[in-house]
Amino acid sequence: MIDTHAHIDFENYDNKFDLLLKEIKLAGVDKVIIPGVIPKGFNKIISLIEKYDNLYGAIGVHPSELKDVETDWEVKVENLLNHQKVIAVGEIGLDYYWDKDEEIHNLQKQVLIKQIELAKMNNLPILIHDREAHQDCFEILSEHVNGKIPVVMHCFSGSPEFAERCLKQGWYLAFGGVLTFKNAKKMKEVVKITPIDKILLETDSPYLTPVPHRGEENSPAYVKFVAEEIARIKEISFEEVNKSTTDNAFKIFKF
Ligand code: NI
Repeated sequence: MIDTHAHIDFENYDNKFDLLLKEIKLAGVDKVIIPGVIPKGFNKIISLIEKYDNLYGAIGVHPSELKDVETDWEVKVENLLNHQKVIAVGEIGLDYYWDKDEEIHNLQKQVLIKQIELAKMNNLPILIHDREAHQDCFEILSEHVNGKIPVVMHCFSGSPEFAERCLKQGWYLAFGGVLTFKNAKKMKEVVKITPIDKILLETDSPYLTPVPHRGEENSPAYVKFVAEEIARIKEISFEEVNKSTTDNAFKIFKF
């Protein structure tokens, strides 16, 4: 299994990192992608991926972090994109849940477009954070990506109808712990209609811990609970989910 989105660079894991890596391995998780959030955090991601073979990085600025982002963020992102173990631009996108202000929305859009351009220049896939901004996200992605690079909709939270539109564009949908929640009915419907060759696994650790560990701190070791839920919903075997999602990740990312 591959956890395509886990913030294990966060300080939550600092004094138990070796234990965390051991648990990840024991759980059958071969690779973990650590997405960037703010430029201040990039160095730590780089040092982790240089130290550990099974860890890879994405570099990008998160839409909710723009209010006090460094003015030279673009240079900081660009400089790291040719690192051998930086395999995506992310997480980038739009978040209208935390920011309701129109001016901030416009800034988010500009920054997203710039980062899509950087990804295209470096021929890297993008990890998209889309929270309550489906329509704007869709418009920007379909216009600016234009089929040139793979798109991963991280923590996909749209309706089945929105999923259909994304799938028609050839984008991948990534699912995490929320899928295991009883009340995640809409998301389970989305999984049902999404072909297995378009699905990726993730945890978004330390957040959104799957059942049966809901409420505890999340870990990439728990990604199997997401895979099990997908198997249940699609009435296929766990092995098939494991194999297909791993194959998908290898198609998108140059590990
Ligand atoms: Ni995230």
